[in-house]
Amino acid sequence: MNFPSPRDLKDLKGKRVIVRADWNVPMEGNALVEDYRIRRSLPTIEYLRKKKAKVIVLSHIGKGKESSLRPVVAYLKREFDIGFVPDFRTQEARDVVAHMKEGSVVVFENLRIDAREEKNDPALAELLASFGDYYINDAFSASHREHASIVGLPKLLPSAFGFLFLDELKHLSMALKPAHPFVFVTGGAKVSTKMPLMKKFTRLADTVFVGGALANNFFKEEGMQIGKSFVEKGTFGLRPLFKKKNVVLPVDVVVLDKTQNRAVRRADHIEKGDRILDAGPATLRALEEVIRKAKLVVWNGPLGNYEEGFEEGTDTLLKILAKARGKTILGGGDTIALIEKLKLEGSFTFVSTGGGAMLDYLADGKLPGIDAIIKKRTRK
Ligand code: ADP
Ligand code: 3PG
Ligand code: MG
Repeated sequence: MNFPSPRDLKDLKGKRVIVRADWNVPMEGNALVEDYRIRRSLPTIEYLRKKKAKVIVLSHIGKGKESSLRPVVAYLKREFDIGFVPDFRTQEARDVVAHMKEGSVVVFENLRIDAREEKNDPALAELLASFGDYYINDAFSASHREHASIVGLPKLLPSAFGFLFLDELKHLSMALKPAHPFVFVTGGAKVSTKMPLMKKFTRLADTVFVGGALANNFFKEEGMQIGKSFVEKGTFGLRPLFKKKNVVLPVDVVVLDKTQNRAVRRADHIEKGDRILDAGPATLRALEEVIRKAKLVVWNGPLGNYEEGFEEGTDTLLKILAKARGKTILGGGDTIALIEKLKLEGSFTFVSTGGGAMLDYLADGKLPGIDAIIKKRTRK
């Protein structure tokens, strides 16, 4: 398949180029926990600046409209001059873009301040398109979402994929025909995003390990006691998966008990006041054994609630993967944050910016954000 790149967009000098980036990085207050997604998005922006385009960056951050991109903009100001538009629905936004100099960069506030983004409302896509001459999707990690900026905008402007996006496809496509044994490890908390994909991976992988808060949903649907552990509401049809031989769940977990003490428990011995917050040592030993024999390991999602200090399971897994002989592909906003913390960059075959998007792409070989650009071109 031929993927258009920024090099295919002609006569960039003076053109307004909308770049959909994914700067949804983990934050602590106003401080960035890490900047991997931002750093990987810079080659596209640098290329456009050199070509003297006017670069308008769109991104979401966090869930819904609560979070702001201001701290990201402040952070990037250390690299180059960058303007900020607090509300893209105003005359001010029009004025700022109308006065942009060639080679300059302006960022619009979190797209999710407008509910029409997540609803994929064509009216928002039209408003955003009115600011640009070209559209580049460099938000690989958000391209599993059918949102206005991902699938609506490319319908309206000549479009291409950014360099980050193309690099993701280059590396991840090697896992579309995986070497076996293939071990898939997943965790985190986005149950509704990841569950449909888990089903697919039980067909693709030799072993599917489910940790993090995802495992709580499995335990709950199986009717096991999970105390006060976090679960996403809803049923996800997990019971058939529970019985599959290649699906592996934690055999032991770290809990905070009703007196707020940490304890290691067998997964089938959880008490009413417990909160499951990490995978236990026996689980990690079993996982190490499986990973040692694997030719390919794909991992997304922390095994525990690392923000509250339950990071040992995930840290141990990272160290196991850094030593693995097979290929290792990792990804996801929170997963990346932990790699950086342990200074393990460079120890893996590929670190994807995508969490849900990486899984979606590996399971299906396509993404809504890819189709939106490719299908339009083939229709022409
Ligand atoms: P990624 O960004 O790597 O794709 P997710 O966004 O799906 O991962 O999940 C990350 C979140 O999952 C973190 O906030 C982490 O605290 C949470 N998490 C993982 N395990 C648990 C658990 N057992 N209980 C509560 N939260 C958990
Ligand atoms: C991610 O963090 O995986 C992407 O930024 C997408 O975020 P979302 O799950 O809130 O759509
Ligand atoms: Mg996350």
